[in-house]
Amino acid sequence: MQTKILPASDPSAIEEAARILREGGVVAFPTETVYGLGANGLSAESCRKIYKAKGRPSDNPLILHLSNLSMIGRVVREVPLKAQDLLRKFTPGPLTVILPRNRDVPDAVTGGLSTVGIRIPSHEIARKMIAAANVPIAAPSANIAGRPSPTTAEAVKRDLDGRIPLILDAGPCQWGVESTIVDATGEIPVILRPGAITREEIEALIGPVQVSPTFPRDAADKAVPRAPGMKYRHYAPKAPLTVLEAPADVWFEEVTKFLRETRGQGKDVALIASEETLHALDVDLPSSRVYSLGSRENLEAIAAELYRALRFFDDDIPEEIFIESFPEGGIGLALMNRIRKASGGRSLQFNDGIWEEVVL
Ligand code: TXA
Ligand code: MG
Repeated sequence: MQTKILPASDPSAIEEAARILREGGVVAFPTETVYGLGANGLSAESCRKIYKAKGRPSDNPLILHLSNLSMIGRVVREVPLKAQDLLRKFTPGPLTVILPRNRDVPDAVTGGLSTVGIRIPSHEIARKMIAAANVPIAAPSANIAGRPSPTTAEAVKRDLDGRIPLILDAGPCQWGVESTIVDATGEIPVILRPGAITREEIEALIGPVQVSPTFPRDAADKAVPRAPGMKYRHYAPKAPLTVLEAPADVWFEEVTKFLRETRGQGKDVALIASEETLHALDVDLPSSRVYSLGSRENLEAIAAELYRALRFFDDDIPEEIFIESFPEGGIGLALMNRIRKASGGRSLQFNDGIWEEVVL
């Protein structure tokens, strides 16, 4: 199959996408978070094409995307009060709410669960396309399962070329990390996946919430609900990724020493780091082995760069990629969640004068 990329600014491109969706096909489209791979969310057969194109395990449910809140009655049985508050305040926008589904939602969307994830994207192209298709659109991120989510049409093409008929191109995504997923069906709401809407913003509106641990360890961790998809390895670049962690006062000095030593051993390593770190480090890494995420002063911009960074070394693959760690407040929680997942929990921590290997 030939994969076309069409500029989403052309109204006939949106019409063509909507036609493909109505006829049961799949289309990649932009959202404010990452590019999605959409299909008619009321058709099991159409949704199966998503799983096939991505190579996604069938027990990992899909989010249903609506063009506006009035569509919600077509797929959801009831909306609990806290979920209503969240939807009113944060949608359209980068939030997904887990709700009891109704019988029209096929098992192919929910992996057999009694709930369904609902999201109303704020991206104008996404909403126009869904409105034109006039059905809820099931859409995961438009990457091969396990890879970093695509934040540009080119990244979608890298993964799905020849597997899907059409990619709508609207340039880079605004947030660059996926939506925050909140399960508000139980007593205490749970953030199943941190995202662009922060824990702080959510708690200011509906009170205390729990957050699913990135890697559940003990019984208490395991008692907090998780999204089925979060048990899989995610966002992985082709080279192994390791998070570097050291106290702020020795960071530049110790990372410089560490990288010099590693390079001295002849190891082909790459570094993903903030502008501040790259500026202060005294290591002569070639430019093909460095990716700047931008200033630490702007964690939103860093989050928006992350998936591009994780894909940057996929053509000319180094032996290992090291990445800086960031504070977990605000969008930092989503940023570190994705970095930890991408690294498979591997980090090097500088403690008491030595670098220690830690696997979370
Ligand atoms: O920003 C986003 O949410 C993007 C764009 C395209 O909208 N979509 C996205 O979808 O990230 P995906 O499929 O890559 O991630 C959806 C996550 C998975 O971890 C899945 O397990 C979880 O949502 N999920 C879906 N339905 C669920 C449900 N009923 N209960 C719990 N978790 C659910
Ligand atoms: Mg995904």
